[in-house]
Amino acid sequence: MKKILLLGNGAREHSIAETFLRSPQKPEIFVVGKTKNPGLAKIATDYLLADVCDKEAIREFANKVKPDFAFVGPEAPIAYGITDMLLEIGIKSASPLQTVGRLESSKSFTRNLLEKYAIDGNPKFKVFFAEDGMMEFLQSLEGNFVVKADGLKGGKGVKVSGDHLADTAEGFSYAKECLLECGKVVIEEKLIGQEFSLMSFCDGENTKDMPAVQDHKRAFEGDKGPNTGGMGTYSCENHSLPFLTESDLIKASDITRLVAKALKQETQSHFKGVMYGGFIAVKDGVRLIEYNARFGDPEAMNVLPLLKSDFVEICESIIIGDLNNVKIEFENKATVCKYAVPNGYPDTAVKGEKIEVGKMPDGVKVYFGSVDEKEDGLYLAGSRAVAVVGIGDDLASAEKLAEEGVNLIKGPVFHRKDIGTVELIEKRVEMMKEIRGIR
Ligand code: AMP
Ligand code: GLY
Repeated sequence: MKKILLLGNGAREHSIAETFLRSPQKPEIFVVGKTKNPGLAKIATDYLLADVCDKEAIREFANKVKPDFAFVGPEAPIAYGITDMLLEIGIKSASPLQTVGRLESSKSFTRNLLEKYAIDGNPKFKVFFAEDGMMEFLQSLEGNFVVKADGLKGGKGVKVSGDHLADTAEGFSYAKECLLECGKVVIEEKLIGQEFSLMSFCDGENTKDMPAVQDHKRAFEGDKGPNTGGMGTYSCENHSLPFLTESDLIKASDITRLVAKALKQETQSHFKGVMYGGFIAVKDGVRLIEYNARFGDPEAMNVLPLLKSDFVEICESIIIGDLNNVKIEFENKATVCKYAVPNGYPDTAVKGEKIEVGKMPDGVKVYFGSVDEKEDGLYLAGSRAVAVVGIGDDLASAEKLAEEGVNLIKGPVFHRKDIGTVELIEKRVEMMKEIRGIR
């Protein structure tokens, strides 16, 4: 029986573990995570309660388990070199090594890579190591700019003009802060359009795309309120999104394929794992916002339940560089994922309060995130708590199921009712038509 070491303890990892278990190879899953995720605990053969960046604890556990391969859920262990450490003790991962993981951990690395290899997808941008020229560049962007701290900041290092930064002076002052903290800052043109996620399996040479997904970063309905890790997501039965043209999706796919090749040439190392492109459809095509070197959370919960192929085989083909020879198929179904999050999330989330999860209807999946399982039930642990995924023949039925399911979570939690609804999606389609002058 195959053994898989899985790092991470969120809803994303719950869905990853469930997908491994659907494999005809019936693998055993060994989990490392900081808290006991009730979903993972049910699935896991053994569960090490440890930080996913605790090298010593993971080395000892991995030496004992001797897994056939490892899979990393979150970004931090990749940036911290846990996959490199595992390789040193003879364990390969279907997740990237630190060098190629820079695709996510360094925004300047990725922007420079696209530029050096002439891959079309960057906005106007500049990387600064000192204040020199910073003000002039900001001014040249005429009020439409984004300032990015050049490091892993859990999505909190990016500030956008008109949103978090009122004017060029505020932009300059935040850029100086980033310089002090990271020694580098990326300043770029603010892009206007609709964002989408295209995740692709990559073996270092070849890429294979998953269905496209749209995330909802803002905490409240109507895309209002503070940014979050993602309140929910949807995907469509045709594996595209209602506001994308066929050529948009081809363009995004091409960028990822070319970036994988460029990465190999640049680093002499193969990117193995999931390349998650955060793209934006703009007036005249598609641009890259950023890459992540892992599955999205919640995006994983949209695509993995639809995967018809053997996920263990896919991971093994990633490791040996044989991705082109495996068939990867997803069901032609629509999905809507809604996260139940603690009241007050993200800034003042309630913690330690009890929640109850009712019996879900058919077609609804539940993935546990930030919840603690105690003897007498489930308690909120302070971040996105439970992800509920509706799966249907079209968006309307998937949305209805997700809404029905998420309402069965009782306690001091809330969710975004508008995710996946016709009203919100029509707004996005209209926005794209307007900026592309189609009306
Ligand atoms: P990132 O961490 O690079 O994904 O940035 C976080 C969020 O900031 C993205 O999801 C976008 O909403 C926004 N953002 C980043 N870069 C840009 C850009 N060049 N133009 C517009 N919005 C951006
Ligand atoms: N859905 C956002 C992320 O996983 O980074």
